[in-house]
Amino acid sequence: MLRIILPGNCYFIRKTTLISLMTAVSVFSSVRVFSQGHSQPEGTLKDMTSNDTKIDLIIKDMSLVEKIAMLHGNGMFSSAGIKRLGIPDIKYTDGPFGIREELEKNSWNSMKLTTDSATFFPTGSALAATWNPDLAYLLGTALGEEAKTRGKDVLLGPAINITRIPTGGRTYEYMGEDPLLSARLAVGYIKGVQDRGVAACIKHFALNNQETNRGRVNVIVDERTMREIYLPPFEAAIREANVFTVMAAYNKIAGSWCSENEILLNQILKKEWGFKGLVVSDWGGTHSTVKAAVNGLDVEMGTPRDPYMGKFLLDSVNAGLVPIGVINEKVRRILRVRFSVDPVSETKPAGIVSTPEHGKIAYLVASQSIVLLKNSEHILPIDLNKVKKIAVIGDNATHKLASGGFGAGVKTRYEITPLAGLKSKIGNKASVKFAQGYRSAFIMNQQSRGRRLPNDQVDTALLKEAVDLARNSDIAIIFAGTNREVETEASDRPDLKLPFGQYEMIKAIVSVNPRTIVVLVAAAPLELSSVFNSSAAMLISWFNGSEGGNALADVLIGTVNPSGKLPFTFPLALNDSPAYALETFPGDNNAEYKEGSLVGYRWFDTKKIKPLFSFGFGLSYTEFSYSEIKTDKPKYGKDDKIQISVELKNMGKQKGDEVVQLYVHRLNSQIEWPEKELKGFSRVSLKAGESKRITLTLPVSQLRYWDTKIHDWKLERGKLQLMIGSSSSDIRVVKSIEI
Ligand code: BGC
Repeated sequence: MLRIILPGNCYFIRKTTLISLMTAVSVFSSVRVFSQGHSQPEGTLKDMTSNDTKIDLIIKDMSLVEKIAMLHGNGMFSSAGIKRLGIPDIKYTDGPFGIREELEKNSWNSMKLTTDSATFFPTGSALAATWNPDLAYLLGTALGEEAKTRGKDVLLGPAINITRIPTGGRTYEYMGEDPLLSARLAVGYIKGVQDRGVAACIKHFALNNQETNRGRVNVIVDERTMREIYLPPFEAAIREANVFTVMAAYNKIAGSWCSENEILLNQILKKEWGFKGLVVSDWGGTHSTVKAAVNGLDVEMGTPRDPYMGKFLLDSVNAGLVPIGVINEKVRRILRVRFSVDPVSETKPAGIVSTPEHGKIAYLVASQSIVLLKNSEHILPIDLNKVKKIAVIGDNATHKLASGGFGAGVKTRYEITPLAGLKSKIGNKASVKFAQGYRSAFIMNQQSRGRRLPNDQVDTALLKEAVDLARNSDIAIIFAGTNREVETEASDRPDLKLPFGQYEMIKAIVSVNPRTIVVLVAAAPLELSSVFNSSAAMLISWFNGSEGGNALADVLIGTVNPSGKLPFTFPLALNDSPAYALETFPGDNNAEYKEGSLVGYRWFDTKKIKPLFSFGFGLSYTEFSYSEIKTDKPKYGKDDKIQISVELKNMGKQKGDEVVQLYVHRLNSQIEWPEKELKGFSRVSLKAGESKRITLTLPVSQLRYWDTKIHDWKLERGKLQLMIGSSSSDIRVVKSIEI
């Protein structure tokens, strides 16, 4: 441990953190290649079974009562250890983007401490927009360190459900609509967390793709779609990152609750994928005693009174309804996690929370996540030699995002808002004036049928003030979008509309100042066609963590060249998206995934529906050219790895990062496939004028499909096209090969 003294503060920083940061800087400037079956930092993959002999001796020495006590929460965020043997309780914490504040032991009430702050890291969709698994790893290490400092054993993240509906309330927590992108980021994140001695917990297993009716909805999905779209991020987390814990989702699949789903938990997760850790229920998501116990749930959480896996389970074992072997196996899994996260005697490190280093990691993620959607006449970056009066408009310029709405938040020590970021980065080079423009207000009445919905009424006084400011400024930057009340756990958005009268506001501002830049502070798709054409430039800046405002300001003034790419499609209209087009959302008791594997861009491409912004899209201040696509062979066998390369050149006058994307299109296939599918990607940094040959590796095994006749992966031989481009709809070079 190193002791670093900064003005007014004393921080203890692990050597490893410093090394990580140094790597971060090199990640920034080096060429990395990520494709399926070939990934980011190795991490230390602990063998969770290495303590099994010791664990079996412990189990032999335990009473049934002691064992049962471990199988349910003994507080809202803890489950029992074995006091008699000095084995501590397991302490859990939310969540995916920062360590949650401390809650009272048996309730959701805050303890109102002043010692439980943490770094607010960019949320899932922001991380996904970086397309950078190395950065996900780094983020994981920082989260792991903060969790450990706060005395936690299990971090309840990453959240890796696929974005099936663009209105999904938790889209901000998830990593987009593509299984490969989600898998690669999840693997990086988990390795980072676990390398710091804390267990990650992948959630929500599985098919928790909507918040509406999440506590009762029954998902009906075909086997192939489940295997090819919804399970791969979970499978990768287990097979490649050796994740220690898994959270069962609230919903049902094919009539059976995920927390008692024999196929999901016992057959697929534990048997087929070889998962050795523990399965925890989502909070309050357990529905039975015997079924849950026998079908694979290990720890029940969020049932403060009369848990199913407490006294009822004890009685069930005594009555011979649950074999003792099943109980022992659960205790074994819990102890595996206990001994894998840290040796019981190890004292927790102090002071590795909210450090400047973690702030830098939050900044790196934020700065690589921001997506430039439009930049007409190169209005961006803002030229501070010419622009002297800047109007900053919109509530989101000052709205904080670390908490809000329902669900996990972070009590962050600081959060740089966009306005604060701009003011500090611009300094005295230009005047920056702010007008709120709209109010973030909600209504709940008969019309909204008891739901809390955004109030879209324009606040004329606020609007007038903003219009006047814009009229008298050289440029206007509107901060529109959603916030944590609009995008929230436990409900989905009613539509993709900009809330709070923002369409009217944008139109009014643009009409008095055509040099208007629209920054969307939002973490999910939005309907934008009515304001897209009139805005001079548009960006999306996500729920971007403690350093979000600094990163955004750096992009706006050009210190950072934007390089984020969309992790999901923005449809022109909500009804263009699959679940809405097929009227399968929200379902009532059943959500039928009739679109099959045509989720996100797979649907838009295959059905030839033009979206507003495609998956993978994102502009830069420079331009990249792609040429000379090559493969190492024309024909491949089933065990081969395809080496595919392309010449990438930075054609512009400044350094920039490009995310090279590899898609596969099948020719003359007998099997049904989406038009194209992402099979690899690589974030590349190039200086002005520089060119590089970028190689991606694609194992042929990753081209298999799930054959429902044999219930296994199968390779279809034939011709296919390897397509490389800058987004799913901007393919630049194509090469045919044969399998
Ligand atoms: C959420 C989980 C979360 C848990 C504990 C549930 O409502 O679905 O993601 O980890 O609460 O806060």
